Order: sequence, then structure tokens, then C-alpha cells
Amino acid sequence: MNESRPRVAILGGTGKEGPGLALRWAYAGYSIIIGSRQLEKAQTVAQELNRQLGVNSIQGMENSAAARLADICVLTVVQAAHQQALEGLKQDLQGKVMVDATARVDFSDPRPPSPPAAARYAQNLLGPGVRVVAAFQNVPAHALKKNLGGAIDTDVLVCSDDLPAAEEIIHLAKAAGMRAYFAGGLDNAVVVEGLTSILISLNKHYGTRTASIEITGVQTPLSQAK
Ligand SMILES: NC(=O)c1ccc[n+]([C@@H]2O[C@H](COP(=O)([O-])OP(=O)(O)OC[C@H]3O[C@@H](n4cnc5c(N)ncnc54)[C@H](OP(=O)(O)O)[C@@H]3O)[C@@H](O)[C@H]2O)c1
Repeated sequence: MNESRPRVAILGGTGKEGPGLALRWAYAGYSIIIGSRQLEKAQTVAQELNRQLGVNSIQGMENSAAARLADICVLTVVQAAHQQALEGLKQDLQGKVMVDATARVDFSDPRPPSPPAAARYAQNLLGPGVRVVAAFQNVPAHALKKNLGGAIDTDVLVCSDDLPAAEEIIHLAKAAGMRAYFAGGLDNAVVVEGLTSILISLNKHYGTRTASIEITGVQTPLSQAK
């Protein structure tokens, strides 16, 4: 574990997406906190992830304690709980970078969501004291858990009105083996969420669980993580 790296909390990190992100960042040497509404559930998941990696760098905490202790918080609560979770964590998130990974798309009836983007909604609700970034909405949970030290065949579109915050998250995505690009302001994130509707449809039609996206024609130092 590298003490100079930011501490990352994954709020609602006990489901499908959160543990995969946690494994990749812990593998890369980050100190991780799994957040949950229930302390015991968070601790059980953290213990299992530590066991899988043979490390002791993943802790489990209630979401509010996790958010207070972290530098960067990644929100992976089920999309129906988005507003409720943000309202409950508003004070704990002040001063943090908050990454919204949620996509308001129903798995059983995938359709593109309407504006505002979930991350724009989050920024409005949390206020200017929280630096909101939208990212990871298109990273399939199933892809995260394979080949932990290797690259994932996916690109991450990072949207924020705060470029330095977006660059921190691009760095974090690269550390987890993903290619990542700055893709404009928070309002653009509604398009990224909408891609989830397409990815679910691709998964269903082609019988896979790992459909994702790739950007072509852009060469930047930040896109060389492959
Ligand atoms: N699955 C994917 O492949 C994928 C990929 C990219 C992005 N995402 C996004 O990531 C988010 C989570 O997806 P997931 O598949 O990991 O979902 P999930 O497994 O169904 O649920 C994630 C977590 O949400 C928390 N939760 C449930 N109801 C809640 C409530 N009322 N208030 C607060 N927290 C609640 C639960 O944590 P506790 O019970 O421990 O509190 C649960 O473990 C979604 O918004 C999704 O769009 C998913």
C-alpha cells in the first residue's frame, strides 16, 4: 500500500460493480474502504476481497464513515437509491471528489435516460463543496474481476466541470487497467449513461456480459494504458 495515494471509498460497494473496482485498486496498491448501509455487510465483503488478494488494505465501514475517511468516493449504489444515498451522505461528502458511476437504465427494459445526468443531479444536490465526476458507468462488473493486474478491454469516459478532478479519476482508471478520456462537462454524462442502454441490449442479443466501449482516433498520453 502506498500512503501517498488517495484513499478511495466505494459507497454501496457491496454489490456487483463495487467489489470489482475495489479489487483492481487494491491490487494496484490503493487503500480501499467498502461502504454499505450495514457495517457487518461491508466488513464481510472487505474481508472476502482481502482474502482473494492476500492483502489487508480493504476495510469495511458504513457509507457515512467511509465517505468521511476517504479522499475520493465512488458511488455504486443501485440507481433507484441514488437520490436517497446522496441526501444521506451530503455532509460527509463535503470537500471530497465524488465519482458517480450510476446509470439510470433498467436492465429489464433498457432505454436512454433523460437529462439531467445522474452526476449533474448529484452536483446540484451536493453543492459546490463536492467535486463531482461521472465515470465507470460503462465498465462491466464481469470484466473487472478477471485478470486483475492486466488491462480491461474498455474505455472510460470521464465527465466533470472540474478538470483537475477529472484528471485524478483518469489516473485512477488507468491504475485499474482501463483506458480513460476526458469527455467534457457533467451534462455529457447523460450520453454516457445512455450507452448503458445500448450495452445491455448488446449483452442480451449476443449472449455476453462484458459489452463495453472503445474510443478511436484520439491519441493522448492518458489513453496509452492498454
Ligand atoms: N453491474 C454493472 O456491471 C455496472 C457497471 C457499471 C456501472 N454500474 C452502476 O453501478 C451501480 C450499482 O450497480 P450494481 O450492479 O453493483 O448494483 P447492485 O449490486 O444491485 O447494488 C449495489 C449496492 O446498492 C446498495 N443499495 C441498495 N439499495 C440501496 C438503498 N436504498 N440505499 C442505499 N444503497 C442501496 C446495496 O448496498 P448495501 O445493501 O450494502 O447498502 C448494494 O450492494 C448502478 O447504479 C449501476 O448503474 C453497474
